[in-house]
Amino acid sequence: MAIIDIGIIGCGNISHSYLKGAARSQQVRVRAVADLRMESAQERAAEYGVQALTVDRLLTDPDIRIIINLTVPLAHPAVSLQIIEAGKHVYSEKPLATSYAEAQALPRAAAAKDLRVGCAPDTFLGAAHQACRRAIDAGRIGRPIAGSVFFASHGMEHWHPNPEFFFKRGGGPMLDVGPYYVTQLVNLLGPVARVAGQATMGSATRTVGSGSMKDSIIKVEVPTTLHGVLSFVSGASLTITTSWDVWKHRRLHFEIYGSEGSLLVPDPNFFGGEPLVTDHDGDWTQLDISAHPFGKPNRRTSSGAHVADYRIIGLLDMAAAIRDGRPHRASCELAMHVMEVLDAVERSSAEGRHVNIETPSSRPEPLPLGKGEEVFD
Ligand SMILES: NC(=O)c1ccc[n+]([C@@H]2O[C@H](COP(=O)([O-])OP(=O)(O)OC[C@H]3O[C@@H](n4cnc5c(N)ncnc54)[C@H](O)[C@@H]3O)[C@@H](O)[C@H]2O)c1
Repeated sequence: MAIIDIGIIGCGNISHSYLKGAARSQQVRVRAVADLRMESAQERAAEYGVQALTVDRLLTDPDIRIIINLTVPLAHPAVSLQIIEAGKHVYSEKPLATSYAEAQALPRAAAAKDLRVGCAPDTFLGAAHQACRRAIDAGRIGRPIAGSVFFASHGMEHWHPNPEFFFKRGGGPMLDVGPYYVTQLVNLLGPVARVAGQATMGSATRTVGSGSMKDSIIKVEVPTTLHGVLSFVSGASLTITTSWDVWKHRRLHFEIYGSEGSLLVPDPNFFGGEPLVTDHDGDWTQLDISAHPFGKPNRRTSSGAHVADYRIIGLLDMAAAIRDGRPHRASCELAMHVMEVLDAVERSSAEGRHVNIETPSSRPEPLPLGKGEEVFD
């Protein structure tokens, strides 16, 4: 595939993952980066040997075909619409927008200009998650019936240098980490039909723990513990909990229970891991993920864990899909469906009723087996 020039708007924390991912890739090249704060763009540009431009200059660069939106959630829809308006395809970090209602404008604007919208997460394309998909499709656990998805920590103010956005509209743990879990659920089980939810706020303020904002107080404006019951079109139903009010726990992230066995899915915050499967009540056995691409650990987290981080492969798939005239996997349709489900947890809690999910969605096609990005050739 001819190398494609891309741009990045938003040069904060996560931009390192994308710049490293692009540097590894034979298929895309970062032509320029931009940020509201020019000094952030210049810093990132110097680190990775790319150009720093103003947002306006980047939007009008005729060589750039796809722009990645790595701004904060509150800015996602406006920046994505600017990118579309400039005639470029957009690949956005999650969440697509701060609410389902707000996200509606994106597919409309993109369709009017015949452009693509892609959206993170792309972790469901990772080896561990594709191996789980393959196991379910092969009937390893029979008919999926139930399950449990759980993410809890005492985030995010301890480590993030600029954590305010996590506690404002568009933030909260369901919109922040929920996309990883619900996207992988749709990949495994298909679309969600209806949602019941309960949402609470653990504390009204948070104190920043590090960086230049250390000791400043953030007023919390969103629920920080949310529980949902998701009923799938397939008939399966699962619970999902996301919380930033928990110091310590002993729950697993992701379990699916089927008519013939159970599956333990690794944390979909990452691309790799060790899925475990049982037949009925037999011993757990590890699923071999080695035939799938994007699973080998390639990054150490701050806590020392060796994880697989291949952020950007959703964009590589979108670039190949544009070339081949096929749908891309980390699609706007999937992100809209996920956004509606995430929104519905809080809405159900506020309105005291089940919420039916209207956005249609289908399971994205599995990735072919292979070693790496040649699967997009
Ligand atoms: N940090 C992580 O580990 C992580 C992981 C996965 C996904 N994400 C997602 O990535 C996005 C960015 O997160 P982050 O941690 O990098 O945030 P950050 O605050 O570190 O960086 C965001 C950057 O966007 C810039 N910005 C804000 N509004 C802008 C606008 N209108 N135009 C141009 N630039 C603008 C800011 O100046 C800042 O440099 C969020 O949606 C987050 O959910 C973050």
